[in-house]
Amino acid sequence: MSDEAIDQAVAVWKRGGLVAFPTETVYGLGADASNADAIRKLYAAKGRPSDHPVIVHIAGIAQLVLWTREITPLASKLAARFWPGPLTLILKRASGVSDGVTGGQDTVGIRIPSHPVAHRLIEKFGGGVAAPSANRFGRVSATLAEHVRREFGDAIDFVIDGGECDVGIESTIVDATGQAPVLLRPGHITARDIEAAAGVRLIAPTVNSPRASGTLAAHYAPATPLLVMEADLLLEFAATVTRQSQKVAVLARSALQPVFAGVTWIAAPRDAQSYAHALYANLRTLDTAGCDVLLVEQLPQSPEWAAVNDRLGRAAAGSRPPSAP
Ligand code: TXA
Ligand code: MG
Repeated sequence: MSDEAIDQAVAVWKRGGLVAFPTETVYGLGADASNADAIRKLYAAKGRPSDHPVIVHIAGIAQLVLWTREITPLASKLAARFWPGPLTLILKRASGVSDGVTGGQDTVGIRIPSHPVAHRLIEKFGGGVAAPSANRFGRVSATLAEHVRREFGDAIDFVIDGGECDVGIESTIVDATGQAPVLLRPGHITARDIEAAAGVRLIAPTVNSPRASGTLAAHYAPATPLLVMEADLLLEFAATVTRQSQKVAVLARSALQPVFAGVTWIAAPRDAQSYAHALYANLRTLDTAGCDVLLVEQLPQSPEWAAVNDRLGRAAAGSRPPSAP
């Protein structure tokens, strides 16, 4: 990444503009977290309701005290183990943090990304960068600069192209305000990883836990109706609807690709991490294939698949119901 591109991005942030940038999870759409106007612009570009908080991205642990009023022992342990990296901690907000960032809650989400370009950008900027995933609200996140450009066009000021994101799905979110961690969004860092680092078991979210919009039942949805089903049923369903001259898009791990016409098929990677890495690009490819329905083969229920299963469940819930074949 050239110094000019970094400088240009930082200049845009300083004057209150929006810059999309790569992180190790997905692309973020960044704005100066201390500039209320810039945050308003961010919400408008995403089409995001204003009571949904955004994550503040910082360059290093020294900046943590500017954003939170209480670094719990639990937060210290998790930060020491996983930062920089794909973990967001929910902490009590410091007094100066605006309602625009926190969605009016008493907590703030903070992350120190490990992606070298994200790190250089935020360090050079010097402040906190508020950055939701760089996609329209409720839609599929972006793992390539090209996805961001297609999603926003001229509605944002600048896109930094850092190639493909490594992890491919959004950060694990943990509420670290108490003694025991609460998992608000599963991710590449698993429940087991969190428990091992914290030395205590996770507790389930309660009605009083902070709200995370990525945990809305419907989210991460392509425009094509998406259904998750077992391989056998998927093949039968695909055969039936293509006979009725509907087109079917399929994301499947098993090597069962049928030969009949009207099917756009992507053979997904076998292991959970590679599957996650490619997930959003695959969903975007299938979503633009002009199909009537998008079928995803049911995945294993084991812990390493938890984050991907979470995203697919919400993507399916966010789909328009498919028209009857
Ligand atoms: O990997 C990621 O986390 C990416 C990259 C760009 O860092 N960002 C991301 O942001 O996924 P977004 O806005 O798409 O999802 C952030 C989630 C939302 O569900 C939001 O509700 C939750 O974090 N969140 C942020 N601040 C929170 C808070 N104070 N309390 C509870 N949830 C919070
Ligand atoms: Mg998002």
